[in-house]
Amino acid sequence: MKLGIIGAGAVGEIVAYTSAMRGIASDIIINDVIKEKAISQAIDLNDGRLFYPKDVKFRAGEYEDMGDRDVVVICSGKIPEEDRLNELELNKKEVASYVRKIVDAGFKGIFVVVTNPVDIITYEVYKVSGFDDSRVIGSGTFLDSARLQVVIANKLGISPKSVNATVLGEHGESQFVPWSQVMIGSMTLDKYEKTHPELFKDFDKDQIEDDTRRRGWDIFKGKGSTQYGIGNTVNNIIQAIANDEKIVLKASCLMEGHYGLDDLYISTPIRVGKDGIEEKFELDLTDEELGRLKKTAGVIKDHIAKLDL
Ligand SMILES: NC(=O)c1ccc[n+]([C@@H]2O[C@H](COP(=O)([O-])OP(=O)(O)OC[C@H]3O[C@@H](n4cnc5c(N)ncnc54)[C@H](O)[C@@H]3O)[C@@H](O)[C@H]2O)c1
Repeated sequence: MKLGIIGAGAVGEIVAYTSAMRGIASDIIINDVIKEKAISQAIDLNDGRLFYPKDVKFRAGEYEDMGDRDVVVICSGKIPEEDRLNELELNKKEVASYVRKIVDAGFKGIFVVVTNPVDIITYEVYKVSGFDDSRVIGSGTFLDSARLQVVIANKLGISPKSVNATVLGEHGESQFVPWSQVMIGSMTLDKYEKTHPELFKDFDKDQIEDDTRRRGWDIFKGKGSTQYGIGNTVNNIIQAIANDEKIVLKASCLMEGHYGLDDLYISTPIRVGKDGIEEKFELDLTDEELGRLKKTAGVIKDHIAKLDL
């Protein structure tokens, strides 16, 4: 599959590398406003070509070179501290401008959006591209959900692969955990607690929710970027498209009456295959969880109003 990446920074390079290491893409074009950076990333990634499980070619390219791509990942950006919403003013004009150029170049594939604030920028890409919403996917809270599964797994001394947990709402400060949906293996968390009370002595749900929300910033403080979680979550989306997997994952998609919400991008479980989003699933939330979802959706809506559409 042919992959395009806009933004050759910390996220762009790890998305490219993870895709090569997993043998997903066979041809990757990487773009950056700083041309030398994209060129150097492409050369450096090519240096690993001997060792990837399948052959893959990398080159630097322009927006106009993205016309023949199957998937374009949008991960350009300028990261300010503490709240992803602060990135909106910095990114919205540039993303709108290059999405138009990519569409004009004949791109007919699927946009996967990572640039923050991701739910709002994904909505912008959907509107500006004119694409059907099935072909515009935001990474949304996929990363937060993966983080939550790791945090819960560490607490319970179990594999994160045996935890199914979802972070809902904005990929940002207003996100929340619908605890009613957490499963350990095939058991609800409540059932698991009844049979393993000793594991739940220090299991503070508010603390876990907070740790999950803070995790990105905690990593950012130490190394100035976050990479491995996002590199893998984005590649799970790309892989689902490349292999027509029809896998259910959590990502940002257009609400059309789901949960009583309309005309915004927010995360919920979706089924993804070769044509993008095939189905959106609505979780059975409690009234309290539904209230929290409406609140975080309000934050996204307020910021969508700031887009120049
Ligand atoms: N959604 C998520 O879960 C998630 C996770 C991590 C990072 N992010 C977001 O991804 C984006 C990138 O993060 P990063 O750590 O790679 O940042 P970075 O600063 O390392 O890289 C960003 C790159 O984008 C380039 N760029 C800026 N404007 C551009 C444009 N108009 N066209 C092409 N390239 C452009 C910059 O030159 C830079 O190389 C940010 O918006 C960040 O907030 C999202």
